[in-house]
Amino acid sequence: MKICYTVQEVRDTVKEWKRQGLTVGFVPTMGYLHEGHRSLMEAARRDNDKVVASIFVNPMQFGPGEDLESYPRDLEKDAALCEGVGVDLIFHPEPEEMYKEGFCTYVDMNGLTTELCGKTRPIHFRGVQTVVLKLFNIVTPDRAYFGQKDAQQLAVIKRMVTDLNVGTEIIGCPIIREEDGLAKSSRNTYLSKEERQAALILSKSLKLGKEAIEAGERDSKKIIEIISKNIETEPLAKIDYVDVVDFATITPVDIIKGETLVAMAVYIGKTRLIDNFIVQI
Ligand code: PAF
Repeated sequence: MKICYTVQEVRDTVKEWKRQGLTVGFVPTMGYLHEGHRSLMEAARRDNDKVVASIFVNPMQFGPGEDLESYPRDLEKDAALCEGVGVDLIFHPEPEEMYKEGFCTYVDMNGLTTELCGKTRPIHFRGVQTVVLKLFNIVTPDRAYFGQKDAQQLAVIKRMVTDLNVGTEIIGCPIIREEDGLAKSSRNTYLSKEERQAALILSKSLKLGKEAIEAGERDSKKIIEIISKNIETEPLAKIDYVDVVDFATITPVDIIKGETLVAMAVYIGKTRLIDNFIVQI
């Protein structure tokens, strides 16, 4: 496995693979890898001749006061996980390599980014879209893999690729959870023991919402109420949002129909966690 720090090194390596007619799968990450990332890399490994993973804590997608500085980092451990899955190349650039002096071009979107996480994180998706398009232009992957845990991000990237005619197929992969239901996240590491226990309220509340839909409830307001009321039973939890939206367009729906995303962001202490499920009615 090769670790590349510059755009040029990646371009040269991928160019040679493409000359040989090999396909390339890509997993963009911010590092501090866990089982969720591993599942993306395994999917990429299954579908492609070569696998590239990027490890880059992208400053552009963090707002003021967010956790850019404290975001956990451990390249050695990450490299070992990548090697274990059979990743061929890690791209690990410095911010200065990605954003050269004078950088002023961004990818923006009119829809999809204003609801859910976009409300509390207004500049987040612009940063995600911009870095992902840059990474796609550098790696030129045949397929790229994103977790459904960041469901809004997945919808945004799918829309961007369609709108801008990017020749990369976007593959969404299921949420990976701890045995007790907590969705895997690099940010779980911020939780104290007590908060870690309290964080179970997210998946437990989602389960109640899902059961209500399975029992025939179609009114979004009722589903939001069932979920929110249960979250409020946990003293350490503070709701950022609980919402029901059309998955493709990320617009709120009154009645659950078609591919629908039920999503939440909840603060457990100072840590903001997200979780969701998608139903097809
Ligand atoms: O999901 C993430 O880890 C990031 O948002 C991504 C896609 C790597 C872009 O920085």
